[in-house]
Amino acid sequence: MLKAPIVMVNFKLYPQASGKNAVKLAKIMEKVSRETGAEVAAVVNALDYHAVKDSVNIPVLLQHVDAVDFGAHTGRINIELAKEHGVEAILINHSERQLKVSDIEFLVSKAHTLGIETVVCTNNPSVSAAIATFNPTYIAMEPPELIGGDVSVSKAKPEAITETIQAVKKVSDVPVLVGAGVKNGDDVRRAIELGAKGVLVASGITKAKDPEAALRNLVSGLM
Ligand code: G3P
Repeated sequence: MLKAPIVMVNFKLYPQASGKNAVKLAKIMEKVSRETGAEVAAVVNALDYHAVKDSVNIPVLLQHVDAVDFGAHTGRINIELAKEHGVEAILINHSERQLKVSDIEFLVSKAHTLGIETVVCTNNPSVSAAIATFNPTYIAMEPPELIGGDVSVSKAKPEAITETIQAVKKVSDVPVLVGAGVKNGDDVRRAIELGAKGVLVASGITKAKDPEAALRNLVSGLM
């Protein structure tokens, strides 16, 4: 379902991308994808999942699931429940929602069994290599200090991209996405030139005055 090269937009809990606005933004993404042929995916919270999924024809990922079985767990959701709700792909271990390594292994392994695709976030090359041994669908490397900022990972830390790709290649063929501070097509182009298979972006789209124009600009870097 998640075809490279791809732009994944993490809606986080930005008001511009939550509730009714989540559906609105996802529809903009679908339009841009249809008109440009670019692969884009929306990463949404569990409450907004169905409304978004039922409104658009682009891949929709859950932002997080907990590494628990069914049982006495208040305020948690698990991957089996996600499967029951038709979820086909999940993002886990975002820097704003980190998991223990053992929990990542547990979730990726369950996802394999359930036929769910996984995007596992990491913060640097060595952690990326360690996670690659679990064989998720994608690794998304984001230097935490650049998240939400104005300078992209491709400009501020190109070496982190190349080192991550090299480190991951040594252990598996898991494709690598990169993110943090990505704002335009040039940032995406540089990431792709360095070997990334796409980007994970949030504020560059969710907080843009004109999200459609911002996304069009961004996906131009995939071509
Ligand atoms: O998940 C994507 C994210 O952490 C990057 O955020 O705002 O720097 O694009 P941003």
